[in-house]
Amino acid sequence: MNKIYGHFDDQAREYVITDPATPWPWINYLGSEDFFSLISNTAGGYCFCRDAKFRRILRYRYNGVPMDDGGRYFYIREEDGSVWNPGWKPCKTPLDAYECRHGMGYTRIAGERKGLRAEVLFFVPPGRRCEVHKLTLTNNGKTARDFRLFSFVEWCLWNAATDMENFQRNLSTGEVEIEGSTLYHKTEYRERRDHYAFYGVNAPVDGFDTDRESFIGMYNGFDAPQNVLAGQASNSVAHGWSPIASHFFRLHLEPGESRTLIFVLGYVENPADAKFAADGTIDKTRAHELLAAFDSEAKVDAAFAALNRYWDDLLGRFQVESGCPELDRMVNIWNQYQCMVTFNMSRSASFFESGIGRGMGFRDSNQDLVGFVHQIPERARQRILDIAATQFPDGGCYHQYQPLTKRGNDGIGGGFNDDPLWLIFGTVAYLKETGDFSILDEQVPFDNQPGSEVSLLEHLRVSFGHVTANLGPHGLPLIGRADWNDCLNLNCFSNNPDDSFQTTENKSTGSKAESLMIAGLFVCEGKDYAELLRHLGKDAAPVEAAVSQMEQAIRKHGWDGEWFLRAYDYFGRKIGSHENEEGQIFIESQGWCTMARIGADEGLCDKALDSAKRILDCEHGLVLNQPAYTRYYIEYGEISSYPQGYKENAGIFCHNNPWVIIGEALAGRAADAWEHYCKISPAFIKDQDLHKVEPYVYCQMVAGKDAARPGEGKNSWLTGTAAWNWYTASEFLLGIHPEYDGLRIEPCLPADRFQTYRVVRRFRDAEYDLTIHNTGRGGSRFIPYEPGKHKIKIEL
Ligand code: BGC
Ligand code: NOJ
Repeated sequence: MNKIYGHFDDQAREYVITDPATPWPWINYLGSEDFFSLISNTAGGYCFCRDAKFRRILRYRYNGVPMDDGGRYFYIREEDGSVWNPGWKPCKTPLDAYECRHGMGYTRIAGERKGLRAEVLFFVPPGRRCEVHKLTLTNNGKTARDFRLFSFVEWCLWNAATDMENFQRNLSTGEVEIEGSTLYHKTEYRERRDHYAFYGVNAPVDGFDTDRESFIGMYNGFDAPQNVLAGQASNSVAHGWSPIASHFFRLHLEPGESRTLIFVLGYVENPADAKFAADGTIDKTRAHELLAAFDSEAKVDAAFAALNRYWDDLLGRFQVESGCPELDRMVNIWNQYQCMVTFNMSRSASFFESGIGRGMGFRDSNQDLVGFVHQIPERARQRILDIAATQFPDGGCYHQYQPLTKRGNDGIGGGFNDDPLWLIFGTVAYLKETGDFSILDEQVPFDNQPGSEVSLLEHLRVSFGHVTANLGPHGLPLIGRADWNDCLNLNCFSNNPDDSFQTTENKSTGSKAESLMIAGLFVCEGKDYAELLRHLGKDAAPVEAAVSQMEQAIRKHGWDGEWFLRAYDYFGRKIGSHENEEGQIFIESQGWCTMARIGADEGLCDKALDSAKRILDCEHGLVLNQPAYTRYYIEYGEISSYPQGYKENAGIFCHNNPWVIIGEALAGRAADAWEHYCKISPAFIKDQDLHKVEPYVYCQMVAGKDAARPGEGKNSWLTGTAAWNWYTASEFLLGIHPEYDGLRIEPCLPADRFQTYRVVRRFRDAEYDLTIHNTGRGGSRFIPYEPGKHKIKIEL
């Protein structure tokens, strides 16, 4: 029997964790505008405003020992001296009951010990820059209960990177203010910062602490703060060192009595010329407003109800009743939710991304778009314009940009030759969802340079042109630094461990390195671009000609006999061929060339899909390549740096499995498409210990069949996997394709399992309530767009 740490509660749209000692912290995200929090099932994690690097509010230690230490902790100290936390950590005192419910934008953690129950609801109210911690203490016992309560958070000194390195400065800059029950963090406010944070509570306190060592003690840990053990606060005022915020209460509860305290962890920005009050302290007007907004249960409950309505609306835009609970829960709840998280975070802050490294990926952000455009089209519009503004005049683009400045990241630069095509992908998805063609006329600069503005449509033209202007000897696209597979670095040739694989190009002049992944992507996006031009009444013939030339080049130079080649290396030698010793077949080109239907008439797609299934598939999904590389190949770069079965070296990339699933669907192979879909869907995970990471969201990578522990997941949450699986399930399995003038219904689900299903889909100003009888014969039906409510029965 596999051990179970939690289960789904679909009715409540929650994942319920019943054992706090999960194999890895299982987290959730709070916030949907510009204040965001990461919160684990034991209340670990941190929050930030807008930028996880530059405006970090709580300090967090990565990959610490023990793992996931630091967060928002409540300590309950009993009269007998024992101490426990409702979330079990950090004291780990055994609880009689524990439950963590991760819901849509909130987390509820409850612990109970000897009849005393403590339940905390954590959420970020819509439109506010704060976390609310609603703590309810209930005496379920038969006798009166006296105990002491301590809250605790530790402040980050704003810049999460220097906070971890520049101690000669940091340990002298910390400053706080205390006003009643509110503890303010104002480090660097005296100089250039116009922002501060605070932690307040809606009741008078019996004491507080703001200096970490005074509270915890020099030789103690979070699990044994000396003041908690002693049952008293020191009313410490931090001067430098490490400022914290801790409230102290002496509480008494009669049997059956409850008490609710509302804590607000907030962030405020003041106008630069109105930072200070007359006495030189912080101007606290905005903090007072925020505290007043949540000083009663009624106000908190109203804000929480608003949060739930927000999610009802977002998720209500696409709901399915398929008869398969696993499919329904992914489509209706968790996959859509994860897509919104990737919109908010891109790849910045998770328990695998530190929030101080990567900016927003050009490719990543465009792919994410297909996951959230139906939920928040207006914000998708702005995202597209921001991304396009980091493109260069020749169609190339910065690989990443910074969310705070929206500028391209010079450190990583460009040269990833698939990047430009993703702008077509993202824009077309937006246009088909919204019908808003005005976006194509928006004037967007190159590299954010004022004066360089051209229309977005022109950006699409140069994107397309970047590929045709960079073809290699076989007429296939030159790969540049890498394509989708950031680790296939064919021009890198690095033997220096201090080089970055991502930015080093030791040999590129004269390179013959070509990519079949980009070739397939070009055909798909070229067709999309041509369709758009035709729709606009413009001449699409030159685009169609370039696409058909590419199709020919793939058939001529990209077919290996049983599958599509992956690439040609710097010297023009094959990669992903049966002639290679290792890395004979790769998933990316099977996915993209079957999505592009290259050589479908001659059976190439069926053959490629069969080969992928035969060679790449295993119990947990399709691995990226086979055989895995067993040594470092200087001419291939980072891909061969990973041990076999991990990451890009034969790991199961949940991101690219959908490409094959779509290929299968387009080939009408419903049984195979469904089988591949189920293997990587979190809803079907059986062994939670093995999978290790959250069983309610996709992770980027699951260890492949060559790994030591096949099936072990890593890098959960922030991955293009979310958008790609959403796109696959909603459009290619359930068959609801947005088109310029309506919806095209073209499902591909096994008819023996799915006979009839219902989808309610909001589309622009219309709502379609579709009942689809799936005969398994295939075919498609077009429903023209018309505002209003429509109930339609379809047989296909
Ligand atoms: C990882 C890739 C990632 C890249 C850029 C590599 O080490 O394996 O998955 O895209 O770094 O951050
Ligand atoms: C993660 C990156 O974010 C994504 O852009 C990339 O394609 C994959 N890694 C594969 O290398």
